[in-house]
Amino acid sequence: MIFITGDVHGEYDLRKFGKDEFPAQSGLTRKDYMIICGDFGFLWDESRTERYWLKWLERKPWTTLWIDGNHENYSLLGRYRIEDWKGGKIQKITDSIYHLCRGSVFTIDDKKIFAFGGAESHDKQFRIPGVSYWPQEMPSLREMTLGAENLEKNDWKVDIVISHSLPTFILKELEMTDIYKPNRLTDFFQKVNHNLDFDLWFSGHYHRNMQCTHKHYMIFDSIAKITGNTFEIVEGEELD
Ligand SMILES: [Fe+2]
Repeated sequence: MIFITGDVHGEYDLRKFGKDEFPAQSGLTRKDYMIICGDFGFLWDESRTERYWLKWLERKPWTTLWIDGNHENYSLLGRYRIEDWKGGKIQKITDSIYHLCRGSVFTIDDKKIFAFGGAESHDKQFRIPGVSYWPQEMPSLREMTLGAENLEKNDWKVDIVISHSLPTFILKELEMTDIYKPNRLTDFFQKVNHNLDFDLWFSGHYHRNMQCTHKHYMIFDSIAKITGNTFEIVEGEELD
């Protein structure tokens, strides 16, 4: 089974994975996948607290998959080896926690999943480079080209898109551009959205549980379970 949820921010938004909050976890195995739509936040300062909660997450029965958001320590992430997995590229953080590299298309449980992390911090002027802000939060032209090439190899057809940001037109339609300014990444997603045949697109970043269009969703503390070409919410509020 594939589950999808939003930002975790290290230990700050982990509560959703508690046994009381998410009782269905008791029947899961490493062949079930929990995908986090960015702001994983467990590669941050290598503190004891961070290591404790990472171990807590590691002990969960599923395999955790995460894309990067704008709250990751990219210097730490860069230390992990890139390897092949299910058609795409990953970095194994632990035996059951994998980072999904930008632009990969994975085949997981017969679903093709396009993963593309990154986002622009709207408060970066208040952050410290190399301590609480990394310019790598914004994907490079090379990464976007790689993503497009991988979609081309898949004939521009996938089942699910996992991103941190959303396409520009959605931010405009929802009148969110005063905070979440359009940028080269949201414009890239706009092109991807135009060319790609897909069923579902999930994003984190906005800290909302919300349906944006008939295919685009913001997810935060809810957990969605993929069922066929749609999903059901198994924890938290519906995405209305
Ligand atoms: Fe976040």
